[in-house]
Amino acid sequence: MRYISFHKDTSVFTLHTKTSMYQMQVGRYGTLLHLYYGDDLGDARIIHSIVNLDRGFSGNPYEADRDRKFSLDVLPQEYTAEGNGDYRIQGIEAEHEDGSHVLQLKYDSHEIRKGKYALAGLPAMFAGEDEAETLEIVLKDELSGLCVKLLYGVLWDCDIITRTVEVVNRGKTNITLRRVMSAELDFPKRPMDMVHFYGRHSMERLTERQPLHHGIQSVESKRGISSHHHNPAVIFCDHTATEDYGECFGIAFVYSGNFICQAELDQVDQTRVVMGIHPYQFAWTLKPGESFVAPEAAMSYSGTGLETLSHHFHDGFREHLIRSSYVKRPRPILVNNWEATYFEFNEEKLYGIAKAARDVGLEMFVLDDGWFGKRDSDYTGLGDWYVNEEKIHGGLPKLVKKIRKLGLKFGIWLEPEMVSEDSDLYRKHPDWCLRVPGRLPVRSRSQLNLDVTKKEVRDYIMEQIFKVIDSCQADYIKWDVNRALGNVYSQGVEAGKQGEVFHRHMLGVYDMMERLIGRYPNLLFETCAGGGGRYDAGMLYYSPQIWCSDNTDAADRLEIHYGTSFFYPISTFGAHVSVCPNHQTGRTTSLRTRGIVAGAGTFGYELDLEHMDEGEKKAATSQIAQFKASEELVQQGDYYRLSAPGDRSNSVFWEFVSKDKRDVLVAGVVLRSEVNPPVNLLRFRGLEPNLIYRERESGEEYSGAVLMKAGLALPVTSEDYESVVYRFEAKGEFESEKKR
Ligand code: GLA
Repeated sequence: MRYISFHKDTSVFTLHTKTSMYQMQVGRYGTLLHLYYGDDLGDARIIHSIVNLDRGFSGNPYEADRDRKFSLDVLPQEYTAEGNGDYRIQGIEAEHEDGSHVLQLKYDSHEIRKGKYALAGLPAMFAGEDEAETLEIVLKDELSGLCVKLLYGVLWDCDIITRTVEVVNRGKTNITLRRVMSAELDFPKRPMDMVHFYGRHSMERLTERQPLHHGIQSVESKRGISSHHHNPAVIFCDHTATEDYGECFGIAFVYSGNFICQAELDQVDQTRVVMGIHPYQFAWTLKPGESFVAPEAAMSYSGTGLETLSHHFHDGFREHLIRSSYVKRPRPILVNNWEATYFEFNEEKLYGIAKAARDVGLEMFVLDDGWFGKRDSDYTGLGDWYVNEEKIHGGLPKLVKKIRKLGLKFGIWLEPEMVSEDSDLYRKHPDWCLRVPGRLPVRSRSQLNLDVTKKEVRDYIMEQIFKVIDSCQADYIKWDVNRALGNVYSQGVEAGKQGEVFHRHMLGVYDMMERLIGRYPNLLFETCAGGGGRYDAGMLYYSPQIWCSDNTDAADRLEIHYGTSFFYPISTFGAHVSVCPNHQTGRTTSLRTRGIVAGAGTFGYELDLEHMDEGEKKAATSQIAQFKASEELVQQGDYYRLSAPGDRSNSVFWEFVSKDKRDVLVAGVVLRSEVNPPVNLLRFRGLEPNLIYRERESGEEYSGAVLMKAGLALPVTSEDYESVVYRFEAKGEFESEKKR
C-alpha cells in the first residue's frame, strides 16, 4: 500500500498524507500506543518517544508484574477505556451485565485496505479506490468479547486522516455503551492553544483562543443539534502559531447532533483530545452479535500555520465530503422573501418581488416561511405541508408557473423536523413529537420536535414534502430547524432504549435528507437551523451550502464568516444582501459593503427589491455581474484571512487565490473611519513572488513579492464600514516557465 504501512519488526503503523505522518505502535501487553503526528518524516519510526518511568499513584497493569515503569496513566495511546489505571478522559466506557465498567482493550488484528471506508446511514468523507486507504485495527476485551474496530481513512491529497470506531459485541452477554468517542488523540508535552468557535443565535462561530490549562476543558452541545453555541470543529496549535507559521492540528466532527470535544492537559503536561457523541443521556445496549458505529471525525495537521490547515479542510470537504454537483458549479443567484415580507404576503406581493428580481438580473426566487397550513405567524402550521390558499390564491403551481415565465428558477422553504401544536398534523398525531407523557413540554419558538426516530413519521413527512416539490418542480430547497431538541423522549420506545433517542433522531434526519437528495439529485439544497445552528461537516455531506446566520448585518457577518472560514469552505457560506438599517442590529452599512461581504459566500438578496430606488437597482445589477465574474474563484480558490476582527488593523480583509496563482481577489472592510489615520499596509499571501500582477481596474502592476512583502496601502476611508476590492490577474509567464 502507498499511504499506510505496518513494520513487523517494531509493530509500527505509519500513515502518510501528502505532508503529514501519523504513527502508532503495538506496545507491551498489546497496548496500542500513539507515537507521532506531525510533519512527514519518511521512514522514521518514532519509538523513542515512549519513555517509561516509575510514577507514583499511577497504577500498573497486572501483567506488568514488578515493572512499575509501565503505566497507562501517562502513556500516549490510541484509544482508551475505563478501568486500566488511566485516569484521563477516555475513548470508551461500557457497562457489563454484572455492573462492572472495565474494558481491557488489547491489539487483536489489523487490516489495510484500498479506498476509504463508508458508514451506513451516517455522513462520511469519501474517495476513489486509488485516492485513499483504510486501516482497521481491532482491539479486543478478552473477558467480555467486546471488540473495538478503530478505523483510519487516509486521504492523501488533502492531508486529512478520518477516524471512527465500530464497537461489536462478540461476547455472550449484553453490554451497554455509555460513551463512545470517535477519535482520541494524545500529544506529547508541548505548549498548545485551543481555538474554538462559540456563539449564540444570530452571532455564531466567534473565534476564541486560549492556552490549555491543566485539567479538562471542553466544548459541547447537548441540544440535539451541533448548535449555535459551540461548533464541532476545534484547533490545537502552538502558542506562537499564526496564519502562516507554526504547528496546528484540527479536528472536525462529521456529525450534526450532540457532541463533545474535550482536551485534558495531564500531570506530566501531555494533552489528550477526544471528539465524539456527547455521553449526555447516551446509553446504547449491544446484544451479542450487535454493533454500534460512531460518527466520523476528520483530523488534519499543518506545520505552516492556520491558513494551510484551513486549506486542507476546505479542499478535503470540497473534494471528499460535499456530494452535490453544485459544489463546483455556479449556483443560481437568488432573492429570498423572508426579510422582505416575513409572514405577510400574498401571491401579488411575491410576484412583484420576483419581477423586480428578474429586472435586476437575479436568477431564482425563493419562497421562505409562511406559505403553508395556517402559517400566519410562527405559532402555527408546522407539519401541514400544503399551500395556504388564503395567501397564495390558486395554489403553488399557478404562482410558480408565472415566476418561471419571468425566466426565474424557483425554490422553497421547509422545516420537516418540526410540528406546531396548532396544526392538523399535531391534532391527528399528538404522539408524533418528542415529549414525556404526563409532563408539559418545553416549547421553543412555540414549536415541538417531531419524533423522527419513528419511521412512520419520516415516511409521512417525506411523502408530504415530495408532493410539494413535485407540484412546483422546485430547483432549490431550504431545510430549516428552528429549535433545539427538548424533552428527548420517544413515545413507543421502551424505557431501556431512551438513551438511544438523541442519536437515533439524528440518524432519522440523515435518512430523510438522503431520501431527498436521492430522489432529486439536481436539487440545490441549503440547510439551515435558525441560521447557523447546524453548521457542521455532517450537514455538508447532504447540502453544499448552509445559511450562516439569521444575522444579515454586514459588519457582524465579518466576524461570523471569519470564524466559519477556519474549517468550512467559503462556497458553503449562505450569505445575502439585506436592507438597511439592518433588521437585526439597526446598523447601516453601504449597499456596496453588503454586496462585498455577501460576495464572499453564496451571494443573493433578501430584501424587498420593489422598494429599491433606481440607483440601488443599478448597483445591484453590477454587484451581480461582479459576483458572477469571481464566483469560480470564490468557490474553488484558496482562501486567506489577511486581517482579523479585533486585531490592530481596524479592518477585516480576505483573499482568494486561484490554484494556478494567476487570479487574485482581495476584499475587505475598514471598520472605523479614523481622523489622521495610520497608514494601513495590507500584505497579500499565497502569490507567486516572481509573477507580475496587474490590478484590473487601476491597471497598476506589482510583483507578487511586492504585494506579499511590502503590501498595498489601503485607501483612507471617510465613513465606517467602507469596503475595498482589488482584482489582480497575473501577466506573462512564471520565471521558471520562461527558462524552459
Ligand atoms: C429561520 C431561518 C430564516 C428564516 C426563518 C423563517 O430563522 O434561519 O432565514 O427562514 O427561519 O421562519
